Amino acid sequence: MIIAGGQWGDEGKGKVVAYLALTDKPKIIARAGVGPNAGHTVYYGGKTFGLRQIPCGFVYEGARLLIGPGVLVNPEVIKKELELTGAGPRFGVDRKCTVIENSHIEQDKSSDFLKGKIGTTGTGCGPANAARINRTAKIAENAPELREFLADVPQEINQAIEDGEAVFVEGSQGFGLSLFHGTYPYVTSKDTSASTLAADVGVGPTKVDDVMLIFKAYTSRVGLGPFPTEVSQEKAEELGIVEYGTVTGRRRRIGTFDFDLAKRSVMINSATQLAITNIDRMFKEAAKARRWDQLSKDAQDYVASIEAELGVPVTIVSTGSGTEDIIDMRSEKM
Ligand code: IMP
Ligand code: MG
Repeated sequence: MIIAGGQWGDEGKGKVVAYLALTDKPKIIARAGVGPNAGHTVYYGGKTFGLRQIPCGFVYEGARLLIGPGVLVNPEVIKKELELTGAGPRFGVDRKCTVIENSHIEQDKSSDFLKGKIGTTGTGCGPANAARINRTAKIAENAPELREFLADVPQEINQAIEDGEAVFVEGSQGFGLSLFHGTYPYVTSKDTSASTLAADVGVGPTKVDDVMLIFKAYTSRVGLGPFPTEVSQEKAEELGIVEYGTVTGRRRRIGTFDFDLAKRSVMINSATQLAITNIDRMFKEAAKARRWDQLSKDAQDYVASIEAELGVPVTIVSTGSGTEDIIDMRSEKM
């Protein structure tokens, strides 16, 4: 199963992946997507984990944790996250991952265009991907700090699939940030749709059974660029929705659910199921609900309208920040 973001990132993928990992117990959880520009937050066992590289499914201790060759890696960020999670013994980085170097971070932060006009995260991802395309980038097998973690990620994943084991491919960012399908030039430095997420970890299209697309119940965006359903900061405050980015601390722009964006996202990701997150921010009484019948009629109608408009079943509704704050409709009928 591939888990992908349907909007502009920050849809709550981290939390959903953590829940699914604990419930479905996959053999492997592999991180796909751009790199450490992503910030995923997982609240588990009374602790908060802000993760940029290690798969959020780390909370399920039976899973092997991998980073696919298409993903950029920053060895310092990986080191910190391994200390935070204690996941070292089951962690692997593909030999061919591009390594982000300080010069890439400098370039990203000092560029008037990247930092000023596009509003990048300043994590060096764009310049590192450019270096890879120019065939001048360093790869993981040449980074001494990563030596003990080097792995052949496509081999491990394809073997697990052949053995009939469950594998999760954990995406990052979101559809609207795709270099090709998003709001260019206000996008990230790579495609972010399901096909690329599969390619990032070395899995071909005929091996993918499920694509879960994650949507916030409303829309948020950090950084610059078009946002058709955006509301004013005052209006967002009135609604009680004020958010800050995990990586950059910037205040997120807030808007209503964008059905046009969502429909295109469903089409290009070929989504087979949907997760709707942060429903508790729109319907306060939905907080921490774990069953469909605990939602108000308004909240039920809202979720049902998204399902009807997009024509794909909603299987997960997230009702809070804790990993267990989930309505799992795979075991419950709407
Ligand atoms: P970059 O990926 O750092 O080059 O930034 C390009 C654009 O993508 C900026 O608007 C960032 O705010 C946005 N972006 C990159 N990663 C994420 C993410 O994980 N969540 C939300 N926005 C992101
Ligand atoms: Mg985020």
